[in-house]
Amino acid sequence: MIINKIKIENFRNYTEEEILFTNKINYILGDNAQGKTNLLESIFFILNNESFKNIKEEELFNENNKLKQFNITLEIINDNKKYSIELNKNENKKNYKINGVKRDFKNKIIKTILFIPDDLQIVKEGPGKRRDFLDNEIKILFPNYKNLIKNYYKLLSQKNYLLKNRRDKNLIRTFNIQLAENGKEIIKYRLFFLKNITPIARNTYNTISEKNEILSINYKPSFNFNNYEEELELNLENELLRKQSLIGIHRDDIIFYINGKNIKSFASQGQQRSVVLSLKIAELEYLKKYYNYFPILLLDDVFSELDEKRKNMLIRILRENNIQSFITLANIELIKNQINENDKIIKINNGKIEENIIIGK
Ligand SMILES: Nc1ncnc2c1ncn2[C@@H]1O[C@H](COP(=O)(O)OP(=O)(O)O)[C@@H](O)[C@H]1O
Ligand SMILES: [Mg+2]
Repeated sequence: MIINKIKIENFRNYTEEEILFTNKINYILGDNAQGKTNLLESIFFILNNESFKNIKEEELFNENNKLKQFNITLEIINDNKKYSIELNKNENKKNYKINGVKRDFKNKIIKTILFIPDDLQIVKEGPGKRRDFLDNEIKILFPNYKNLIKNYYKLLSQKNYLLKNRRDKNLIRTFNIQLAENGKEIIKYRLFFLKNITPIARNTYNTISEKNEILSINYKPSFNFNNYEEELELNLENELLRKQSLIGIHRDDIIFYINGKNIKSFASQGQQRSVVLSLKIAELEYLKKYYNYFPILLLDDVFSELDEKRKNMLIRILRENNIQSFITLANIELIKNQINENDKIIKINNGKIEENIIIGK
């Protein structure tokens, strides 16, 4: 399943543009602030029904247009058949249409693996960033997970409100029961994901690493989650005292090790980048091999952060797996050793497509 064409209307700095894509690698080229990330965001938005940025959807309307609305249309090719997905959003509503017929949003059309420079920081950042990273990756594989997470954090904020404002223990206990129920499900997904992804990521990491290094990934719970409800009950007095939720899946962490050592404290930037790159590649391969799913890859400005070896590895895997990719770049020099005649260069200037070149054609 591939995206053959996109039409963007009034989305961010785009007025009306139509772009034809190749089913191989699409390099999206342009100077700063021209609309490269916006293009990736439009593809991500229509396929995930949300942005990858933390924004209000109203921010997506083109500011220069009086009408507060945008449209995104994709032409998809699947088994030689074409069909369209259309998203219309205005101030009041958001509509999806498939082949012109109004439908509810379906999360399974095409899965998107997103790779942005922020991802490269997760190792160094606090546990919150790593939890978000993990949760976002799991959402791609399992659409239901999105609701679980949303529900959990809603319950958590309600419980925190109670802890701050009321001290009705029994009411808090009813929240604890639901939090434990949700939390246990979330942990199951997180452990399942890591268990399946880690061996693939380890292989990839081993190939990129200079010295045959071994990558391990551990889930580090903040409490004994096998006794979820009991633990919550045991902490209730303390939580009332501190006026906040002290235990639960929102406090857990993920630890990465290379040759048994925690990489947060010792790994070089290159090693940390390789870890994240290996995780993303592992997801692509996992989807392809075990679900026979054809994900697309959206890669924003990451190429400037990767050296030749890592770039080559990534491109080789994309080609071997026939993964349709959208890679933004500010400088064509970055890919001079990776590009081939099946790829496409799409040049963007101030929200307009300047050139749409297929190399070698
Ligand atoms: N809602 C909007 N309406 C009009 N222009 C926007 C909107 N949101 C962002 N922009 C513009 O888009 C440009 C940034 O686009 P972006 O895709 O992030 O650039 P880059 O090519 O560097 O990735 C900026 O010039 C910004 O002002
Ligand atoms: Mg950008």
